Amino acid sequence: GTAARAGTPMKPNDGRPIRLGFAQVGTESGWRIANTNSVVSAARNEGIELLYENAEQSQERQIEMIRSFIRRKVDVIAFSPKTESGWDEVLGEARAAGIPVILSDREVKAADDTLWTAYMGSDFRDEGRRAANWLVQEVSGDRGYNVVELQGTSGSAPAIGRKRGFDEVLSGDRRFHRLASYEGDFTKAKGRALMEQALREHGREIGIVYAHNDDMALGAIEAIEAYGLRPGKEIWIISVDATRAALKALSIGKLNLVVECNPLLGPQLMKAVKDLAAGKELPMKIVTAEGMFTPQSAKVELGNREF
Ligand code: AHR
Repeated sequence: GTAARAGTPMKPNDGRPIRLGFAQVGTESGWRIANTNSVVSAARNEGIELLYENAEQSQERQIEMIRSFIRRKVDVIAFSPKTESGWDEVLGEARAAGIPVILSDREVKAADDTLWTAYMGSDFRDEGRRAANWLVQEVSGDRGYNVVELQGTSGSAPAIGRKRGFDEVLSGDRRFHRLASYEGDFTKAKGRALMEQALREHGREIGIVYAHNDDMALGAIEAIEAYGLRPGKEIWIISVDATRAALKALSIGKLNLVVECNPLLGPQLMKAVKDLAAGKELPMKIVTAEGMFTPQSAKVELGNREF
């Protein structure tokens, strides 16, 4: 919902520049790098002092970074939680220190949702549903199709949501058979390795690959080509993010559909930070509106893509 909520308010900062501690989850994907750049440049533009740390995909390190922000008495903390669970304790520590926390891009699951002040990011489950809905409509006739799924980071909000939304729609259509679902980590290297494994295990039976992000899809394309099949033709590929690299592959028909996930959250995050400093209540959820691209529309979009 969009209801305003009463999370921890920001302490008065007496006109000093606001200090924001940002604990980024990693550098796993093109999306992530665009997200980091967006946060860094928006902070600079808005005169917000940014303390930036990168956990390189370790939840333990991310927790340590949040603790160091608490020790350094920042005005506000933002982070992209690696996984959905495991945050109750450190979020409680931030609250006890009177520091508001904004969840950027990924949401957490905690019994007490007043532990954070706001969430901004995408509706991952809806991304999965839209990917599947496109498939259901695009495929004609009633022959069967074998689907392989390359999941993102285990336990992360985008992997959970994208899997659930996709399953929800496809389970109602008997033409689609789920051949295998592999756990990955949103990197291109892992996407390639998992696709090699899928081809070893299922070979030409595979009809469709659903990758949870572009980097894994781009890795899968390499594996499929090395195996001697044509990605986008003999094996269809669907992914999520819509980075320039994926739109390029899409525009030449090596990918079939890309659902957009927008990483440019920096300006919105800085606005939320300023609103908090001004004592305003934030909406508890700020969900990004997003599109979807096919080979035709990818060609048009490539000219103005920023990430
Ligand atoms: O949380 C967003 C996801 O994280 C992106 O879709 C993926 O590319 C990134 O690593």
